[in-house]
Amino acid sequence: MDRPSDWLVKQQRSNTRQKRLVWAAAIFIGLIIVVGVAAGVAVNKSHKSSSRVAGNSNGTAGVVHGNPSDPSQFDKDPNLHRSFYGFAYTPLGALMPNCGATQANVTEDIQLLSQLTTRIRIYGADCNQTALVLQAIQDTKVDMQVYLGIYVDNTDATYTRQRDAIKQALQTYGADHVAGVTVGNEYMLNAVGDAGSATGAAGVTAAAYLKTRIDDFRATLKALNLPKTIPVGTADAGSYFNTQLLSAVDYGMANIHPWFASVPADKGAQWTWQFLQDNDVNLAAQTTNKPKMYIAETGWPTKSSDAAHATNNASTASVDNLQIFLDTFVCQANSNGTGYFFFEFFDEAWKDAMYGGVEGWWGLFDGNKKLKNVKIPDCPAP
Ligand SMILES: *[C@@H]1O[C@H](CO)[C@@H](O)[C@H](O)[C@H]1NC(C)=O
Ligand SMILES: *[C@@H]1O[C@H](CO)[C@@H](O)[C@H](O)[C@H]1NC(C)=O
Ligand SMILES: *[C@@H]1O[C@H](CO)[C@@H](O)[C@H](O)[C@H]1NC(C)=O
Ligand SMILES: *[C@@H]1O[C@H](CO)[C@@H](O)[C@H](O)[C@H]1NC(C)=O
Ligand SMILES: *[C@@H]1O[C@H](CO)[C@@H](O)[C@H](O)[C@H]1NC(C)=O
Repeated sequence: MDRPSDWLVKQQRSNTRQKRLVWAAAIFIGLIIVVGVAAGVAVNKSHKSSSRVAGNSNGTAGVVHGNPSDPSQFDKDPNLHRSFYGFAYTPLGALMPNCGATQANVTEDIQLLSQLTTRIRIYGADCNQTALVLQAIQDTKVDMQVYLGIYVDNTDATYTRQRDAIKQALQTYGADHVAGVTVGNEYMLNAVGDAGSATGAAGVTAAAYLKTRIDDFRATLKALNLPKTIPVGTADAGSYFNTQLLSAVDYGMANIHPWFASVPADKGAQWTWQFLQDNDVNLAAQTTNKPKMYIAETGWPTKSSDAAHATNNASTASVDNLQIFLDTFVCQANSNGTGYFFFEFFDEAWKDAMYGGVEGWWGLFDGNKKLKNVKIPDCPAP
């Protein structure tokens, strides 16, 4: 049985999802006309997974200053503190077919992120993003662990292409900076949708499908004979896990958004933590492998592109409310052992263009990598 709050989260997410799917379908049709069917499926699935930005500019934003020939020498921003357990990160230009992510831009992102956290998670492996991120960590010599990602849909091609990209990146860069590989992002939410709950028949079927990908990826890792064991997990909406899925993974990452559940900003931190306990930590405890549960995404939007989405019916989308969420969540979660990935690094213009509302405005930085008018909590993350 879903509790009312579960239902709300699910409902809010599904409504947004439906709009996304309509848009995605339109774009998908466009793509068929323009470039044929190849790779179009990724578009309707990867709204949170990667960017779709046309063009191939390879300049940097020029926000970080340092030695241009040695990315490990760069100026630190005194306003930034390594207070976050982790950060959710999507490089610009990482969604097929509009790849274009560049080393210079990703390297600058890593220079900034390394001043906030020692852990990031990415959502997929298209557009060379795995290699770009690992190369950036190598070049900047920062203390950073990354949870790599494989976006899973219902096609073999989407999976194998990303699996092979990660395999190659691990052969090139090794596993020192890889904390895990997350197979699937909101696959359960997409597959089950409104048709049922994660514990119903559709959820059991979806978990079984995802498990085939997870098992295949474990076999791929084993064959690589790496000097360390890399955990394999999955990420989904917070109320879309079931024991079948959690029995197949080493860790689970749950998206938990007080905004989408109409929770006021000053109650958001407590609600988020309680939601993780009630829906995810408790479920993981029912399995024999007892996967570690993280918050995959949590945060607060700072504006909406239209008036209709400017509030969650309890608080507004605003920088002030992001500050409240930062002040009530970050240090408290650090001190009680909650693993979380703050959502998100920077505003993503493509999401605003495609979905409107608050979707493009969740960054701690704006789209030009300028820190929003917030004070970063100062409490070293574990
Ligand atoms: C961008 O890439 C092109 C081709 O790879 C190269 O010639 C050019 O110098 C690059 N520009 C910058 C600013 O890195
Ligand atoms: C790199 O960053 C610059 C400056 O923000 C931006 O104009 C450009 O589009 C970025 N390139 C890619 C491929 O993301
Ligand atoms: C992927 O990125 C790495 C690191 O910058 C680079 O060495 C490699 O050539 C890139 N591969 C492709 C296909 O662009
Ligand atoms: C842990 O931190 C969260 C998030 O800041 C907070 O809401 C929650 O009450 C804390 N839980 C415990 C047991 O301290
Ligand atoms: C606020 O409530 C309205 C009316 O019930 C609903 O349509 C809207 O989605 C809600 N907004 C959020 C962010 O929950």
